[in-house]
Amino acid sequence: MSRLGSLPLFSHSLLLFLLSLLFLLSSSSTASSGSGSRFRHLDDGYEKGSVLVAPLEARRHLADVTTGNTSLVLAAQRTRRRDPTDDFKRYTGGWNISNTHYWASVGFAAAPFFVIAVAWFVIFGLCLSFICLCYCCCRREPYGYSRTCYALSLIFLILFTISAIVGCIVLYTGQGKFHLSTSDTLNFVVNQADTTSESLRNVSDYLATAKQIGVDSNFLPPSLQSNIDAVEGKINSSAATLSSKTMKNSKNIQDGLDSMRFSLIVLAAIMLFLVFLGFLFSVLGLQCLVYFLVILGWILVTGTFILCGVFLLLHNVVADTCVAMDEWVQNPTAYTALDDIIPCVDNATAQETLLRTKDVTYQLANVVNMVITNVSNVNVPPVARPLYINQSGPSVPTLCNPYNADLTNRQCASGEVDFMNATQVWKNYTCQVSSTGICTTPGRLTPSFYNQMVNAVNVSYGLYHYGPFLVGLQDCSFVRQTFTSINNNHCADLRRYSQWIYIGLLLVSVAVMLSLIFWVIYARERRHRVYTKQFLAGNPEGRDKAR
Ligand SMILES: *[C@@H]1O[C@H](CO)[C@@H](O)[C@H](O)[C@H]1NC(C)=O
Ligand SMILES: *[C@@H]1O[C@H](CO)[C@@H](O)[C@H](O)[C@H]1NC(C)=O
Ligand SMILES: *[C@@H]1O[C@H](CO)[C@@H](O)[C@H](O)[C@H]1NC(C)=O
Ligand SMILES: *[C@@H]1O[C@H](CO)[C@@H](O)[C@H](O)[C@H]1NC(C)=O
Ligand SMILES: *[C@@H]1O[C@H](CO)[C@@H](O)[C@H](O)[C@H]1NC(C)=O
Ligand SMILES: *[C@@H]1O[C@H](CO)[C@@H](O)[C@H](O)[C@H]1NC(C)=O
Ligand SMILES: *[C@@H]1O[C@H](CO)[C@@H](O)[C@H](O)[C@H]1NC(C)=O
Ligand SMILES: *[C@@H]1O[C@H](CO)[C@@H](O)[C@H](O)[C@H]1NC(C)=O
Ligand SMILES: *[C@@H]1O[C@H](CO)[C@@H](O)[C@H](O)[C@H]1NC(C)=O
Ligand SMILES: *[C@@H]1O[C@H](CO)[C@@H](O)[C@H](O)[C@H]1NC(C)=O
Repeated sequence: MSRLGSLPLFSHSLLLFLLSLLFLLSSSSTASSGSGSRFRHLDDGYEKGSVLVAPLEARRHLADVTTGNTSLVLAAQRTRRRDPTDDFKRYTGGWNISNTHYWASVGFAAAPFFVIAVAWFVIFGLCLSFICLCYCCCRREPYGYSRTCYALSLIFLILFTISAIVGCIVLYTGQGKFHLSTSDTLNFVVNQADTTSESLRNVSDYLATAKQIGVDSNFLPPSLQSNIDAVEGKINSSAATLSSKTMKNSKNIQDGLDSMRFSLIVLAAIMLFLVFLGFLFSVLGLQCLVYFLVILGWILVTGTFILCGVFLLLHNVVADTCVAMDEWVQNPTAYTALDDIIPCVDNATAQETLLRTKDVTYQLANVVNMVITNVSNVNVPPVARPLYINQSGPSVPTLCNPYNADLTNRQCASGEVDFMNATQVWKNYTCQVSSTGICTTPGRLTPSFYNQMVNAVNVSYGLYHYGPFLVGLQDCSFVRQTFTSINNNHCADLRRYSQWIYIGLLLVSVAVMLSLIFWVIYARERRHRVYTKQFLAGNPEGRDKAR
């Protein structure tokens, strides 16, 4: 049961999964280059290519500057609760898990249950000791039997026993469904995190290829190698940390959920058993056992009321978080408490980054095509030595550049090969080379040319494919999508079933509480009835008839 204490943090942890990712990427800060002008040289392009990643690091810094100045209070309506740490005024800060007033006001909303628990514990405890005292010291002859009282107490006893059973059923069903929907939500988030870290690893692979272009290159200066290395290392470690954290956290949360489920099932079972036994003993008039169960029930009911408060708190936090996520998604420009946790850059910066990735893709494809049209596909005389490689045979198809010079999307022309099959198609155009690097068999690409072109295509494709993903991480559209999915697919269930649990708990605790009282009353009435019967039987007719 001790684990239940960490449950209100569940929704928080949900967020943290996604957020850790964003934090991780901003672990170190390299200044990003500022110049916005378009560039023509490829190595320049590569420097800018790393700018693609640099904003990920500078995001925090940028976020301060760019997130506009309209501030939005998340879930303002829902969270207007009384705040005991602020003179019981209404709390107006909205959903903000870093604000102690928020937690105080949420906790205060659940306070009635804690108060009831304490009051019940004290008052019923006093009653019990009083009864005990009376029973021991001033034992009187029981009298004052009334048929109505007896019947009423029996009816109420049956009624409350049935309500307790219904409460147990609601509790049991609720916890099953709640467990299912929390596990679903958890799986969804873990899946998102896994996909993200896999994509980051893929990006890192593409960057490793980019490094190889630098080796022995006609295309790129080797100075870029260390630059790419650094970026690759960061992405690598982000991916690694993300997946290890995800694994650890999800395991902890799943364990917490499982033990919560177990505790609730045990609780429901114990309560059911208690109510049943209590009813039985009390009807059979086994006074001693009834009092033993009453004491047991007295403590259990106190615990159940406290749990009820905890689940009300959990329910409120889940509902607040859902509303907050929704409002955050709907208001991308406003500054909110979620932006404290999830640093996002503004749309303009993200679009700029996207443009740069497109630009690098375009430039790379362009250079590859330039080599094909100006070198491979031209039959130059042997005197033009750097360009002469004894090219012969059919001309090499050019690469389909996905962008125009103005970086708008471009349709492939016929005869062009796309990123995916350029590697295979060009393989047919490679020749075998002599020691001087001249083709000795028909073909238009030397193996060294081929390798570099393939690598350039690979990097170009990587940027083309993962650029929007990286930008999505940067401007939080990825997180927004995830929140939207959680909101659409999981929030309603989480809210509904956490409510079921707390209603079930409430029903159980109230019903068992009243049952306890009626066990005592009924037992007393029964004793009086038996006594009265004996008494009546003893007077006019004779004692033997009473038995
Ligand atoms: C802040 O908002 C005001 C109007 O509400 C606007 O004039 C101003 O430009 C904004 N400042 C920034 C930095 O967005
Ligand atoms: C990562 O790359 C592998 C192989 O290239 C591919 O199968 C996988 O779908 C990629 N993952 C993502 C998330 O893009
Ligand atoms: C990044 O990870 C890949 C394997 O996933 C590894 O081959 C590469 O050397 C790593 N790069 C750096 C800079 O750590
Ligand atoms: C959230 O609460 C913290 C701590 O009180 C405060 O510093 C921060 O400004 C709050 N955020 C918003 C958006 O109100
Ligand atoms: C960002 O700007 C682009 C166009 O500049 C627009 O299509 C997109 O919807 C914007 N995104 C957000 C979240 O504002
Ligand atoms: C390569 O071809 C392009 C046109 O495709 C031309 O503008 C450029 O000058 C050529 N460069 C060389 C070195 O021949
Ligand atoms: C390239 O692959 C696509 C499918 O991915 C195919 O439709 C197309 O014909 C291929 N092109 C060449 C030249 O092989
Ligand atoms: C490569 O050439 C062989 C034989 O010339 C042909 O069968 C094959 O389809 C070609 N492959 C591609 C990808 O064009
Ligand atoms: C150039 O290539 C042809 C085959 O296309 C070959 O017969 C010839 O020997 C090569 N010339 C040199 C100098 O290697
Ligand atoms: C790019 O390179 C990686 C690793 O070298 C390889 O796994 C992948 O298939 C390549 N992708 C393309 C499109 O060539």
